[in-house]
Amino acid sequence: MAKTSQEISLLFRKAKVDRSWSFDDNRSTDTWTHGFHRYPAKFLPELVKKLIERYAKKDDLVADLFAGCGTTLVESKIHGKRCVGVDINPVSRLITEAKTNAIEPRKLDRYFQKVLRDISKYKYDKSAIVQKHQRLVYWFGKRRRAKIDYLYKSIAGLRDKNVKIFFQCALSNILKNCSRWLQTSTKPQIDPDKKSADPFLAFKYQAKRMISQNKTYYNHLKAQKILSTSCKIKLADAKHTGIRSNSVGIIITSPPYVTSYEYADIHQLTGYWFSYFKNIHTFRRKFIGTFYSGNNSLVVNGALAQQTVQKLFSKDPRTAKEVANFFNDMDHWLSVG
Ligand SMILES: C[S@@+](CC[C@H](N)C(=O)[O-])C[C@H]1O[C@@H](n2cnc3c(N)ncnc32)[C@H](O)[C@@H]1O
Repeated sequence: MAKTSQEISLLFRKAKVDRSWSFDDNRSTDTWTHGFHRYPAKFLPELVKKLIERYAKKDDLVADLFAGCGTTLVESKIHGKRCVGVDINPVSRLITEAKTNAIEPRKLDRYFQKVLRDISKYKYDKSAIVQKHQRLVYWFGKRRRAKIDYLYKSIAGLRDKNVKIFFQCALSNILKNCSRWLQTSTKPQIDPDKKSADPFLAFKYQAKRMISQNKTYYNHLKAQKILSTSCKIKLADAKHTGIRSNSVGIIITSPPYVTSYEYADIHQLTGYWFSYFKNIHTFRRKFIGTFYSGNNSLVVNGALAQQTVQKLFSKDPRTAKEVANFFNDMDHWLSVG
């Protein structure tokens, strides 16, 4: 019989806590390539490392069906495990590709020198045609926009695909700092007093940090002879991943949280700049648990879930709808998964 919420919280209070899973001694998210790009609600790498070392068998394919910024994939690769990730968010794919494809350091440096040469030739031209998307005009001042546009084009002209992705990831991560977006907020909110960063300085700093981390990562993979370990990231809905049945040995994943992040909004700067979507309204709806799903049903499966949604509805109908969407989306995912 289904348990009531009181019975469940009693069970939690009685449960024995194993502190070794709280990683109080090492909560860094900046090791290897993990720190390439900010991402809300990302895994602690130590947690994934421990799960792989403890539970993944020798030839297991490791999968993460809500791959986010690719923490599971980076750790899998470091452990020489084949891996596959799925996420609906193109920004997730960009970051994960940049973080998992180790690049030969001298080659990367040669390309970096090329981008630096381009930067050194830059001259602000008032009449030049730069990005005019109205949302980008909203977030960036004209001079910042002109420099970002220039960087964007310089990177787009690089011939090597992985190098291009690497520098696109660097550019993506500096967009927030260079914009008017309130720095401490994940919600799209203007900070009228913000002194936004200079795109060239921010990019150079970001790229240098990433180049150094790529070198450590590359050298480790090379020394372990696991550079070519297969690692794929698919841009897809977790409900229809296209991954072959029985091909996965272990799944290490953290689904979206209920009532927390609207990923489409959070990543709109990259989304608009890289033309990942035309219309944010339709893009938002693809995400599990989004408030904007268009589904207004408050009917959910399971007595406890229904009780929770009803209780919430009397206090906060908007949140009740978000919670109901989340339960229904996750239910759908589990039923087709
Ligand atoms: C909690 S985050 C995962 C973070 C990840 N563990 C990491 O370390 O970066 C949840 C992810 O689910 C993704 N997501 C939301 N709806 C999805 C869907 N329908 N199909 C696939 N991914 C989805 C979001 O884009 C987000 O990246």
